[in-house]
Amino acid sequence: MLRTQTCGDLRKSHLGEAVTLCGWVDKYRDHAGIVFIDLRDRYGKTQVKFDLAENSDIQKSARGLRHEDVIQVTGKVCARPDGQANPKLATGEIEVLVRDMVVLNKSATPPFEPDGQTLPNEELRLTHRYLDLRRPALQKHMLLRHQLAKAVRDYFDRLDFLEIETPMLGRSTPEGARDYLVPSRVHEGAFYALPQSPQLYKQILMVAGYDRYYQIARCFRDEDLRADRQPEFTQIDVEMAFVERDDIFRIIDGLVAEMVRTVRNEELPLPLPRYTYQEVMETYGTDKPDLRFGLPIVDVSEIVRDSGFGVFKQAVEQGGRVRGLCVKGAAEKFSRRILDNDLKNLVGEYGAKGLAYFKVAGGKLESSIAKFLNDEQQQAVIAKMQGEDGDLLLYVADAWKVSCAALAALRNRLGRELELYDPASINAAWVVDFPLLTWNPEENRWDAEHHPFCSIVDEDVQHLAGDPGKIRAQSYDLVCNGYEAASGSIRIHDSAIQQQIFDLLNISPETAQAKFGFLLDALKYGAPPHGGIALGFDRWVMLFAGCDNIRDVIAFPKTQRAGDLMTGAPSQVDSRQLRELHIKIDAAAAQPGKPESAETVKTPNG
Ligand code: AMO
Ligand code: AMP
Repeated sequence: MLRTQTCGDLRKSHLGEAVTLCGWVDKYRDHAGIVFIDLRDRYGKTQVKFDLAENSDIQKSARGLRHEDVIQVTGKVCARPDGQANPKLATGEIEVLVRDMVVLNKSATPPFEPDGQTLPNEELRLTHRYLDLRRPALQKHMLLRHQLAKAVRDYFDRLDFLEIETPMLGRSTPEGARDYLVPSRVHEGAFYALPQSPQLYKQILMVAGYDRYYQIARCFRDEDLRADRQPEFTQIDVEMAFVERDDIFRIIDGLVAEMVRTVRNEELPLPLPRYTYQEVMETYGTDKPDLRFGLPIVDVSEIVRDSGFGVFKQAVEQGGRVRGLCVKGAAEKFSRRILDNDLKNLVGEYGAKGLAYFKVAGGKLESSIAKFLNDEQQQAVIAKMQGEDGDLLLYVADAWKVSCAALAALRNRLGRELELYDPASINAAWVVDFPLLTWNPEENRWDAEHHPFCSIVDEDVQHLAGDPGKIRAQSYDLVCNGYEAASGSIRIHDSAIQQQIFDLLNISPETAQAKFGFLLDALKYGAPPHGGIALGFDRWVMLFAGCDNIRDVIAFPKTQRAGDLMTGAPSQVDSRQLRELHIKIDAAAAQPGKPESAETVKTPNG
């Protein structure tokens, strides 16, 4: 080894020892004849000192050092003079008085200092990711990611799960997002698809008798990217045979508790709470509510339907709802300008036509529209909202879906701005009983809400023929701090029922056979009842890291336009490669790429 210790190791107990350290030149200070350098590696920083009185040659070469040079120093561990200890550094009580130095490699002038005062823009950081990854903050994320992956593997190993790899080069199957395709050289005109998830393989593993499977699996989806979405991401993928929904919950509850134990050394109370889709949509307006705070949505439609306020009246008459939030003690917190611009525009982004508001004062409602509600209506509203003097009441009157989306975004914004929760807390819960199908008005057909392989709640089989919108799936999400952190279902293990669902989704028997005949075939050969789930691993790392940008927990992430700024992927390839793949580029259609940029970082759900 070129070193005896790392830059994070040395303490007072090493005083007097001769040591050799290697690392990168971080901070550099020249104080009247003495040069101090913070030497950095991924374990920490150690102050090294070049003293003219001790060795003038060395000091001269120390003066030539620059940020990010890689050096090796040998010297003696000394106590820092009284009052000079740095309590912020683990090695802050000592310094190394350098006797010898070797410059292992000079660095070109870096475009930014990894541990500098200001964080450079993300484009620059992604372009020079090797420098960015030297930042202690990112190194902490990579370590956290490793620790979580290890905890996951240990946990499943203890429970007799097998980690089985599934192919990257598979068949294109309609799973929801657009596929990344890989052209075949051998099979002219045919394509592999990169897996959107190992869904079908893991179901087939159940048929094959591997009743407890997991995999830390890479998934690929060509979809619009957001702060919590990457085209290439990692799932903790799980499937089990001979289980019911509650068995999966128990296993995953245990996994989440294990992750919390590993990262935070805390015991998570189990079982995690469960809510139905209907409940969370009514109370929080979204199927991924942030449950770190209350601020529930309250429906006052029945009270205000007969009021004199046309906006409310009409919304209810047209089948919509008037729902709102009671923000405790916030009557004076927002100016009219914020209410009529900022917050109104926020709900406007989700289709709401306006934002009505009242203050509660002297046991009555106050605002420009309060006059349209009579005394009785005002009292009923205040009671229903559990309002008290000093509270702010905010309302959206609109179709159910719009009021859900608008109020969910408003609730998230208020929760964050009014600091209604501890940002470091982790609050996970199950959401169950999702609808099986959603109506797609553009295509005039039913789409699978999750994927076409979810089984349905037994008592809802009756709706198969009449009212498919009412069918609940045996599917479930795990939500955490406002993110969808996992999603899964009990699967259909009967090929006849699977065919019925394909019929509903307008997937003809021919198409079904052509696209996933292999699954339908497998289901005919003794498929056990089975179910599973996949956790968004990157999202869990984000949650534990307390950051809201998925790129900060992935070593080499892609930009919003799915590019890699460091390597320049995707790139053009030479004509011979294309010929071998039987591909011709339509020059007219191929646009030169727009300049790349990382997206501006947005928190999810507005
Ligand atoms: P689903 O598509 O819901 O389910 O994905 C499971 C979980 O993966 C995470 N996730 C993502 N994370 C980062 N970037 C993305 N683009 C991305 N897309 C999804 C989310 C999500 O909850 N085969 C099914 C699982 C099953 O039924 O077992 C599936 O893939 O946290
Ligand atoms: P208007 O009558 O359009 O001037 O609106 C009066 C108040 O009602 C304003 O504060 C609007 O923001 C609000 N408002 C208008 N439409 C709606 C709606 N659909 N839901 C809630 N408030 C609304």
